[in-house]
Amino acid sequence: MAKYKITMLPGDGVGVDVMRAAKLVLDGLKFDAEYTYGHIGWEFWKAEGNPLPSRTKELLEKCDACLFGAITSKPKEEADKELAPRLRGEGLVYSSPIVQLRQEFNLRTNLRPCKAYPGNPLNYQEGIDLVVFRENTECLYAGLEYHPVPDDLRDVIKKHPRFKKFADVPQEDMAISMRVITRQGAQNIIRDAFEYAKKFGYKTVTVVEKPNVIRETSGMMVREARKVAEDYPGIDLWETNIDAQCMWLVKNPQDYGVLVSSNMFGDIISDLAAQLIGGLGFACSGNIGDNLAVFEPTHGSAPKYAGQQKVNPIAMILSAKMMLDWLGENDAAQRVEKAVTDVINEGYIRTYDMGGSDTTMDMARAIAYKV
Ligand code: IPM
Ligand code: MG
Repeated sequence: MAKYKITMLPGDGVGVDVMRAAKLVLDGLKFDAEYTYGHIGWEFWKAEGNPLPSRTKELLEKCDACLFGAITSKPKEEADKELAPRLRGEGLVYSSPIVQLRQEFNLRTNLRPCKAYPGNPLNYQEGIDLVVFRENTECLYAGLEYHPVPDDLRDVIKKHPRFKKFADVPQEDMAISMRVITRQGAQNIIRDAFEYAKKFGYKTVTVVEKPNVIRETSGMMVREARKVAEDYPGIDLWETNIDAQCMWLVKNPQDYGVLVSSNMFGDIISDLAAQLIGGLGFACSGNIGDNLAVFEPTHGSAPKYAGQQKVNPIAMILSAKMMLDWLGENDAAQRVEKAVTDVINEGYIRTYDMGGSDTTMDMARAIAYKV
């Protein structure tokens, strides 16, 4: 029997291409795993009205870790139009399967390392080595949204002194999305960020919020960060506002180590950080819970490149590397990272984003050959 059970969820579009690429590298390592491929994505929305069928969730309950490619999401009108005719008008509502996975398996920590590998022609600047910790289940992603605003909710907020401004707005002309931060959620993500800083020698953890305006939720993140920081004497806690942090990341990206934020700001800042180190072709991520972890490239399914063997698989291959680390296969993980570093630095293989014309599998083969 193989040492690990890995669920592979290629999903849509280029998710399929990059998953094949990552598998080639894992095979190059002789990684001792049994792989099961599961169903997820737009195809299953169209045919079954559910992009995350329950058989896929069952697979996830039984595996050690999961690799996930990418999924296509379309706006409401298109989603309804593409449903199989027999399912239309049944009140089915599309909801992003990756967000569902994060919620249902409580994958509460989203970890996104962004390193400028030497010799990458797309590096914004050299020497960038950032890690974004993003709380993955709360905040504006908690799904507590209302339109029109129901009577009981309106009755509650009516008592708020600031409600005066909205007193005459009809309920159907108002939408509310709630930003929820729990103390436990804040503590968990901040502690994860500090532990990571300690383990990998980062000198600072920056909590990125907006407590001067969003006083309660961002305020709770910052207040909890101050408490957690006391347990890590060698690591400085920096506090920044999300808007200024975006500017400073463009100005002095090398100044930062570990960044930690709530779900929505973490989403935004991780795309910004990804672009600093070459864009989505290099941005890997892990969604980590207590019992399951799902590793995925930060990029989407890029439908226009689907099946063309064009996109850069490095983000997916580095996500597989993160999975190896999470499983405790640190030696194998290091071999993958070294191979990626060497291939980037040597510069013989360049996918289209890097200005070349090598294919997804050319890049994968070059990396697999070196592991
Ligand atoms: C990400 C993506 C997702 C998110 C989308 C696809 C729902 O942008 O993983 O960063 O918003 O979290
Ligand atoms: Mg995002």
